[in-house]
Amino acid sequence: MNHFLDLADLTPDELRGMLNLALELKKEWKAGGNHPLLKGKTLGLVFQKPSLRTRVSFEMGMIHLGGQALYLSPFEIKLGERESVPDVARVLSRYVDGIMARVFAHADVLTLAEYSRVPVINGLSDYNHPCQGLADFLTIIENKGQDLKGRKLTFIGDGNNVATSLLFGASLLGMDFAIAGPQGYELPNDVWTLGQKFAATSGSQLLATNDLGEAIAGADAVYTDVWTSMGQEEEAQERVRIFQPYQVNQELLAQAKPDVIAMHCLPAHRGHEITDGVCDGPHSVLWGQAENRMHAQKAILAKLMG
Ligand code: CP
Ligand code: NVA
Repeated sequence: MNHFLDLADLTPDELRGMLNLALELKKEWKAGGNHPLLKGKTLGLVFQKPSLRTRVSFEMGMIHLGGQALYLSPFEIKLGERESVPDVARVLSRYVDGIMARVFAHADVLTLAEYSRVPVINGLSDYNHPCQGLADFLTIIENKGQDLKGRKLTFIGDGNNVATSLLFGASLLGMDFAIAGPQGYELPNDVWTLGQKFAATSGSQLLATNDLGEAIAGADAVYTDVWTSMGQEEEAQERVRIFQPYQVNQELLAQAKPDVIAMHCLPAHRGHEITDGVCDGPHSVLWGQAENRMHAQKAILAKLMG
């Protein structure tokens, strides 16, 4: 594996392998040890958008592995503006041993990978968020066990980048996946088709609906994300109105399994897509989920750069 751009690029075995390595690295870290697998190596972090988790979890992950990270803000590289994307890849990959990029257009992370001499990791694009997806399945496995057959993940809200990676992860791992949101904000058809292809092999049951009750019934994990993703700010007011019925609150969560876990990739807009009661309530796994970004990404870094 040369790059980490999309969970859909992985085989189920590769995805399982990454998750197992993440579990191992996490166990080691909890016991107070870290393997300097990337001693002397540097990861370049290219950001076109803001971040808390992605930046800090990659920087800390590199430190744990004996390497270092270089943060390059949206104002420095100006990907595709100050310099073409292929030229950025050509130059940056002469200095660093790996590149993590958070971009608007997914095509830009693909172009970086095409022209880079070192591995490229997708730290979120408008299309998907595979690092988040990997951390999320780590969290689900920790809470529900390794066997995800017959387990159900329900995503409530926008058929966005995060939902895309969750569909791919679930359908590769054999977990059932349901998504409910307003009409016009469903997952793109090509994403759904790819998920169905994976599900035909893994046995996952997939459901896309506008009916919240149908989606949430029997859910082992309920997941939501912001209604307005980065780059869609001008639609924010309209989206608040349209998505209001799809808020994840305690009443809705009560319709899932009694031991359901509540998930959110964060940042959360409390009072919009999720309430304080859910964020801070007994079903929430939000903070462990955020921590798992670091453990999951250490596995990606070790596989690609080790
Ligand atoms: N979940 C996530 O990617 O968070 P950041 O945008 O803060 O990196
Ligand atoms: N869907 C959100 C995820 C943030 C981590 C966005 O793209 O802004």
